[in-house]
Amino acid sequence: MHKLAIQGGNRLNGEVRISGAKNAALPILCASLLTPDSLHLDNVPELNDVATMRKLLQQMGVKIEQSAGQLVLSAADIDKPEAPYDMVKTMRAAILVLGPLVTRFGEALVSLPGGCAIGSRPVDLHIKGLQAMGAEIHIEHGYIHARAKRLKGARIFFDLVSVTGTENLMMAAVLADGVTVLENAAREPEVVDLAQCLIAMGARIEGAGSDTISIAGVEKLHGASHRIMPDRIESGTFLVAATAAGGDITLTDARADILDNVLEKLHEAGAVIQVAGSTINLKMNRRPRAVNLRTAPYPAFPTDMQAQFMAMNTIAEGSAMVVETIFENRFMHVQELRRLGAQIDIEGNTAVIKGCAQLEGATIMATDLRASACLVIAGLVAQGETVVDRIYHLDRGYEHIEAKLSVLGARIRRVK
Ligand code: UD1
Repeated sequence: MHKLAIQGGNRLNGEVRISGAKNAALPILCASLLTPDSLHLDNVPELNDVATMRKLLQQMGVKIEQSAGQLVLSAADIDKPEAPYDMVKTMRAAILVLGPLVTRFGEALVSLPGGCAIGSRPVDLHIKGLQAMGAEIHIEHGYIHARAKRLKGARIFFDLVSVTGTENLMMAAVLADGVTVLENAAREPEVVDLAQCLIAMGARIEGAGSDTISIAGVEKLHGASHRIMPDRIESGTFLVAATAAGGDITLTDARADILDNVLEKLHEAGAVIQVAGSTINLKMNRRPRAVNLRTAPYPAFPTDMQAQFMAMNTIAEGSAMVVETIFENRFMHVQELRRLGAQIDIEGNTAVIKGCAQLEGATIMATDLRASACLVIAGLVAQGETVVDRIYHLDRGYEHIEAKLSVLGARIRRVK
């Protein structure tokens, strides 16, 4: 099992290119199931989750060609419209094949994801939405078995905002008979990126990016080309790292317009940020000020950035309150940060962090993807060596993170 060994204390300086977004790439790979023609994708990040999704699609019969950052997917024929447990348990986003399979092939067998480190994360909204569109669904032996002759357009209200729920039903609706209206839909930029890809494939979608999305079903989709949007969480992670460690970094191929809340909080912490086209420059020449935050669906503060800001707050001037409203168990990194000397109290879904002058290096263990990024940031600012264990979580969602941090001057290496 790989670990990261980090010698803390270096400032970060230089330029880093932001990769394509994991959370846009995963649903867009599944969109290839909606047409017999080829889908050409560019800026696809090299991540373990993307590799898992490719393997899953290939197992079903999708043909995939790969060359540096590009994929061509062709789902002319499908042998097995199935997502087995061993794949869904390692990557919950595998649930995103459900909508495309039922709507194009009339049948899907997809394992229920079960719990994960950050909470129970049910998929009831995906199932209810498909039922409202006329799918017959049985839960048997831990699998969702869905069948439908042709899905029918419906009005679907989400009583909780769900990102993959919105994406799954949007993909199901593009080939349904009639109009589907998704209300209280997720407004995340990755939903918009998926919608743009589907529109390029011939889908009729209006309102993606707002809380009401209207989809007029068509008979068939065709092939298309699409470039995956930049990863806003990877961008935010590098910006927080530089705010915590100090320095002067520039992100290229990034998008500032989808990072409003994160940039605002970094500014509050004392960073100086300048945006020019697709570059974001951040300068930090002081100890960060502690910042309060509360996670909520986009455009509010993203839950996927909560842990990284927690790491910064541990060494900040003052105290901060962090409230997690999306996932019930997303403070697993707190125990590990405490091992480095951080002062954090938890009460329900609220963490109170008292900034201390210095963390001290130790061996710590990653528990989930974003918690891993938080521990790497803590290692960058801690005195001495920090070893982050179980970094397979990190490899699921960050492309070459140690190489990118090394270019910025961090002393970080991968050890077996
Ligand atoms: C997506 C992101 C993940 C991010 C999360 C919240 C992808 C691949 N993953 O996950 O990185 O942390 O959004 O921004 O895009 N819920 C239900 N029933 C459902 C669906 C969701 O109760 O059927 C609950 C969840 O347990 C959670 C909340 O709704 O408490 C939001 O979850 P959701 O937006 O669905 O997260 P994901 O789409 O799984």
